[in-house]
Amino acid sequence: MPHLIDNKVYFVTGNDKKVLEAKQVLSNYSIQIEKIKMNKIEIQSDRLESIVSYALKQMPEDSRRIIVEDSGLFVKALNNFPGPYSSYVFRKIGCEGILKLMQNETIRTAKFVSIIGLRNKNKEIFIFKGEVDGKITYKKAGRFGFGFDPIFVPNGCEQTFAQMRIYQKNALSHRGKAFKAVGEWVCSQMTKHI
Ligand code: IMP
Repeated sequence: MPHLIDNKVYFVTGNDKKVLEAKQVLSNYSIQIEKIKMNKIEIQSDRLESIVSYALKQMPEDSRRIIVEDSGLFVKALNNFPGPYSSYVFRKIGCEGILKLMQNETIRTAKFVSIIGLRNKNKEIFIFKGEVDGKITYKKAGRFGFGFDPIFVPNGCEQTFAQMRIYQKNALSHRGKAFKAVGEWVCSQMTKHI
């Protein structure tokens, strides 16, 4: 493990479950993560990358290394709905609403996508992406995780994300992959400055 000079990233989010997932991944890189509150402007866009970049550009000046993450569930039979609108759709209709929309669909293919934007001290922005393919179940299962976890089974698995422990979900998930990329990148930056 390389020696880290500045091993801290500040995660602008209101979602404690996302922070726990990020912590578990980044601990493998000896990177510390702290949740912070900042005014975050979320534009409406079909592209998660645009939402993340815009939010980072609009955030007040800060000497810290800050990250924002935007993620979504893309369901093939629903023309990739809810996608970037996942948070709103979850609040309005939840897992039950998606299961209802899917009740006559035999093609259950779906994917989760996570986009992480990192703004460094020089105000440069770097984007990291993670995806996981899977299927929408016919009913909810599991009590862990958050959001649409109880209705999503990643390919090659029998359990939903909500039936998995954080480290199991992270090994497969969109967010796990995106934070792994962040961990590798931060380590590579740090070793450059030793
Ligand atoms: P946002 O990234 O905070 O805009 O929220 C995206 C929304 O997508 C969340 O509120 C969840 O409903 C859903 N979502 C994103 N990632 C996950 C996940 O890992 N599990 C379950 N639902 C997720």
